[in-house]
Amino acid sequence: MESLKVKANGRGYTIDFVDNYTSIGEFVGAAGYKKCAIITDENVDKLYADEIMSILQAYQPFKMVFPAGEATKNPQNLIAGVRWLANNNFSRTDLVIALGGGVVGDLAGFIAATYDRGVDFIQVPTTIVAQCDSSIGGKVAVDIPEGKNRFGAFYPPKYVCINASVLQTLPERNRADGMAEVIKHGCIYDAKLFDDLSRGIDDFGAIVRRNCQIKQHFVEADEYDRGLRMQLNFGHTLAHSIESYYGNDGEKFTHGEAVAVGMAVMARIGERLGVTEGGTYEKIVDVLKKYRLPYKTDVPIAELIGYMKGDKKVMGGVINVIMLEKIGSAFVRQLKIDEVGEFYDNYSA
Ligand SMILES: NC(=O)c1ccc[n+]([C@@H]2O[C@H](COP(=O)([O-])OP(=O)(O)OC[C@H]3O[C@@H](n4cnc5c(N)ncnc54)[C@H](O)[C@@H]3O)[C@@H](O)[C@H]2O)c1
Ligand SMILES: [Zn+2]
Repeated sequence: MESLKVKANGRGYTIDFVDNYTSIGEFVGAAGYKKCAIITDENVDKLYADEIMSILQAYQPFKMVFPAGEATKNPQNLIAGVRWLANNNFSRTDLVIALGGGVVGDLAGFIAATYDRGVDFIQVPTTIVAQCDSSIGGKVAVDIPEGKNRFGAFYPPKYVCINASVLQTLPERNRADGMAEVIKHGCIYDAKLFDDLSRGIDDFGAIVRRNCQIKQHFVEADEYDRGLRMQLNFGHTLAHSIESYYGNDGEKFTHGEAVAVGMAVMARIGERLGVTEGGTYEKIVDVLKKYRLPYKTDVPIAELIGYMKGDKKVMGGVINVIMLEKIGSAFVRQLKIDEVGEFYDNYSA
């Protein structure tokens, strides 16, 4: 079994890459937890919860199942989860298990962070987004009307158990959605990964392991997101504007689809400004097409600029964005919002 050790908060946690979930039982037994609370959503419950419940039979497994979807990540469910732990007499010697995609991981992690001022939790991620991104790095949160993930904390898990074979049951659109963040990792840090993706390599086990190493690099260098970790936002400023335009519900544009467009546009702008190596835009568009991701939208540029100008990070019409020097290498650059308009117009022509 392959593993990684991530340093966090002076200590650290192990990520195990497994092909079944027995190692969760071994982790719980070795750590001496008395009770376990599995938190999951309806879809994942039907597919994978029984297996883990039976592995944990000796440790009084409890289970809480939320509806699937982003709307579950709300403060009411945070409180519902905390009260459920209290009503089942959970204590600091017990364990919370987040079984599911990024929604479950972020919500269950925040429940664990706040119940009794913090109980241990582990991540058992089941989507590409969760396995390659959200289960590593310790960010936990719920959404509030003022914005996604605006109510949260840094609270690293004690253990991450990744079984890439569960990705086989993912719906097609969610798979593509997750691949956008994988392509992003290639763009900002790993030209070899990007080349592999361009050639259509689809060994998900290998892709997930490589992405965990990349995420590890960024979070160990900048655990609290004050510097280098910003590079993970490549394509995201524009993506957030696209998502806002479409009402943030993921119907017309998922987050990954919006990031895909954001990355393509930023590469194009970078080339026009002479800071990004020529041909980068074409390479990104090719790989996005391969994974059935969009590279442009029909959102009117004035609308996008309007949303960008409303971004709290904009100062005097200027925003810090992530640009590529070339595939595999990113940097922070100031961009005048109006420059986006100029180049985006050219782009959509
Ligand atoms: N904490 C972080 O650092 C971080 C990073 C990136 C994203 N996120 C968060 O992650 C969330 C998105 O995560 P997501 O894309 O995993 O969405 P998700 O958790 O909503 O899962 C997507 C869908 O797939 C279903 N599903 C999950 N695993 C499955 C499987 N193996 N087989 C079949 N169906 C399965 C779910 O029930 C859901 O319907 C967002 O809320 C985002 O803010 C957090
Ligand atoms: Zn993202």
